[in-house]
Amino acid sequence: MELLVLGGTAFLGREIAAQAAGRGWSVTCAARGRSGSFPDDVRSVVLDRDADDGLAPLTDRAWDAVIDLARQPGQVRRAVRELTTRHWVFVSTANVYADQATRGQDESGPLLPPLDAETMTEPVQYGPAKVACENLVRDTASWMIARAGLIVGPGDSSSRLGYWPWRFAHDRTASVLIPADPDQPVQLIDVRDLAGWLLDCAEGAVRGAFNACGSPTTLGEVLDAARSVAGHRRRVLAADRDWLIEHRVNPWMGPRSLPLWLGGDHALWGFQDHRNDRALASGLRLRPLADTLTDTLAWETGRDEPRAAGLDDADHDELVQALSADIAARP
Ligand SMILES: NC(=O)c1ccc[n+]([C@@H]2O[C@H](COP(=O)([O-])OP(=O)(O)OC[C@H]3O[C@@H](n4cnc5c(N)ncnc54)[C@H](OP(=O)(O)O)[C@@H]3O)[C@@H](O)[C@H]2O)c1
Repeated sequence: MELLVLGGTAFLGREIAAQAAGRGWSVTCAARGRSGSFPDDVRSVVLDRDADDGLAPLTDRAWDAVIDLARQPGQVRRAVRELTTRHWVFVSTANVYADQATRGQDESGPLLPPLDAETMTEPVQYGPAKVACENLVRDTASWMIARAGLIVGPGDSSSRLGYWPWRFAHDRTASVLIPADPDQPVQLIDVRDLAGWLLDCAEGAVRGAFNACGSPTTLGEVLDAARSVAGHRRRVLAADRDWLIEHRVNPWMGPRSLPLWLGGDHALWGFQDHRNDRALASGLRLRPLADTLTDTLAWETGRDEPRAAGLDDADHDELVQALSADIAARP
C-alpha cells in the first residue's frame, strides 16, 4: 500500500502513520511539523497546506489511499483537486451533527450547515467546517468519512480521560472530587483501535459515512474503572452541578475542569451517545476500557508537562476541603 497521511505529527495522525509503517506499507506524512515530530519509518514531507502551491511535492504520484485529518475546508478543497488517489479517508467528528440532545443517533442524523468560508477562525465553527470538508470529499469517486467520537489513549495531551486515572493514582487528600452525574453518557474510542480500523478501511477502500465511536458507557462506569486501575480505595467526594458551578469548576476539558463531565446539561447527552453499529459491522474492534485506562495512566505518569485538563493539586485540595466542610455543616 502507498499511503499518504495528510497530517501525522499529532495524536491520531501519528498513530495512523506508525501503525501503517508497522504493517510494512509505504507511508508518506505531510505536515508543517509544528504539532510534533513525524513518526519513524515514514517519508516526511514538510509543507504548508494553506499555501496555494503547498501540495506541489505530493502531486508526482498516485496513492492507493489518502487519509486526511484536516479541519479547514480550503485545505481539503486543494487536496481533492490536486492529489490523485484510489480512495479518500476523511477523519471527521461527531460534532458535525446538528442535534446534540437526542441519544442513539446513527449516520443519517441531520448535519450542521457547512461553513461558508475556506478557513474556520473560531472553535465554534469546528462542526460546520468539518461538514464543509465532508462535502468536498463526497465529490470524489471513492470516499469514506469517519466521524470520530472522543479519541483517548496514550499520547492524548488533552488529558480528558487521562486526568481521571492519574488523579485517582495521585490522591494526596484522602478524597477525590468527582461530579455527581453517574448516569451521564460517555463514549470513548482508543486511538489505537481507531487508527487500526481506518487503515483496514483504507486498504479495503471501504465507502460511506461512519460514526467512529466507542460503545456507549456512563460517567459513573468510567470513573469506577479509572479508580479501579489506579488502585484507589479511599474516599470519593461527589459534587452536584450547582456546587461545581458556584465554585467555578468547568465541564468537559481545560483548566479547572472535571473532564468528561457535560456540566449537568442533558441537552448535550446525545453528543456522547451515537450508534456505532455500522463501524462495528465494518470491522472496528474496541479494546476493553480497563486496557485503555491502564495504558493511559502509564503514559500520564511518565510525563512532566502540566495537564491540559482537570484540577491542579492546589485547586483540587481547596475544593475537597470546601466540599468536606459544606457536607459537615449540613443538618
Ligand atoms: N481528539 C479528539 O477527541 C477528536 C474527536 C473527534 C474528531 N477528531 C478529529 O480527529 C483528527 C485528529 O487528528 P490529530 O490527532 O492528528 O490532530 P490534529 O491537530 O487535528 O491534526 C492536524 C494535522 O494537520 C496538520 N496541519 C495543520 N495545519 C496544517 C497546514 N497548514 N499545513 C500542513 N499540515 C497542517 C498538523 O500538523 P502540523 O501542525 O505539524 O502542520 C497535524 O498533523 C482531526 O481530524 C480531528 O478533527 C478528534
